Amino acid sequence: MLNRRNFLTAAVGVAATAGLAACAKEDGSPTGSSSGGSKTITLGFSQVGSESGWRTANTDSVKSAAKEAGYKLQFSDAQQKQENQISAIRSFIAQKVDVIAFSPVVVTGWDAVLKEAQTAKIPVVLTDRSVESDESLFVALVGSDFTDEGRRAAKILEKVLEKAGHKGKVKIAQLEGTTGAAPAIERAKGFKEVMDAEHKDDWEIVASQTGDFTRAGGKQVMAAFLQSNPDIDVLFAHNDDMGLGAIQAIEAAGKKPGKDILIVTVDGVKDGFIAMSEGKINAIVECNPLLGPQLMEVVKTVHEGGTVERWIKTKESDFMQDQAKDALPTRKY
Ligand code: AHR
Repeated sequence: MLNRRNFLTAAVGVAATAGLAACAKEDGSPTGSSSGGSKTITLGFSQVGSESGWRTANTDSVKSAAKEAGYKLQFSDAQQKQENQISAIRSFIAQKVDVIAFSPVVVTGWDAVLKEAQTAKIPVVLTDRSVESDESLFVALVGSDFTDEGRRAAKILEKVLEKAGHKGKVKIAQLEGTTGAAPAIERAKGFKEVMDAEHKDDWEIVASQTGDFTRAGGKQVMAAFLQSNPDIDVLFAHNDDMGLGAIQAIEAAGKKPGKDILIVTVDGVKDGFIAMSEGKINAIVECNPLLGPQLMEVVKTVHEGGTVERWIKTKESDFMQDQAKDALPTRKY
């Protein structure tokens, strides 16, 4: 079995044949537009949940893009539970949808259900997050490079430290995303990569724990961090929501977020930008949730038996605090 890293490394820029979509289904009927292009595409979509502002924007993007494309969308919210996603995918297979798309809550444990989709000749497109599975079990991934986001977070932290005039050792607390989820694993990995290569002697992660990508989780874990490590210099939060929760804990501890503790987060949702324009977040690494239109394009192509890139990446930027006020009115999510 190829692991996820192999898939992503090998897959960049490689066109994969999405021939699954052109095949006949279990009942012998041809799939959608391979029978002439006039049939409405039915897309089964299993969403992770509604844990963050990013997720809400992503759900809205998928729903509106499906509507715009004229697809019939079967939407299912897994409430951050893998078993719910597996049930949703099984139900999409039973309904004989044309294409299945899902954003996997964690990276492992998908082979059995993906094999069932393959047996039913229903193409599967991953969106936002990827899996550690046999690469033949899905057609493509539409989403961000989370490892690079972690690297970008470390690089922007260098600028934040310089701007703050911080000298000497840097004690870092890390709020991780959901345990076992691709963005949590890869953002931590990318950040550590830069840290090990360039800051082995001056940066140290003194505390690191999951806040499950939620505001409540971020607040609770940050409060515990501050108890055990009152002299934290920097918070790296794997998403804005955990950062926003942490800000509440920092203020409750009588400290100034953005000054006493420098904060770098990932996502770039409006609430994150508001906190940044108030001086409470120092920098944000953007992770674009507006994947709906690209996903619908991929769905159409695979449904018609065309070829798609294995990994369709999203364009993203990084923002320092002094850009926040100008950027805020232009934020789309
Ligand atoms: O998978 C993307 C991540 O999931 C976002 O960064 C986070 O906010 C969300 O919950």
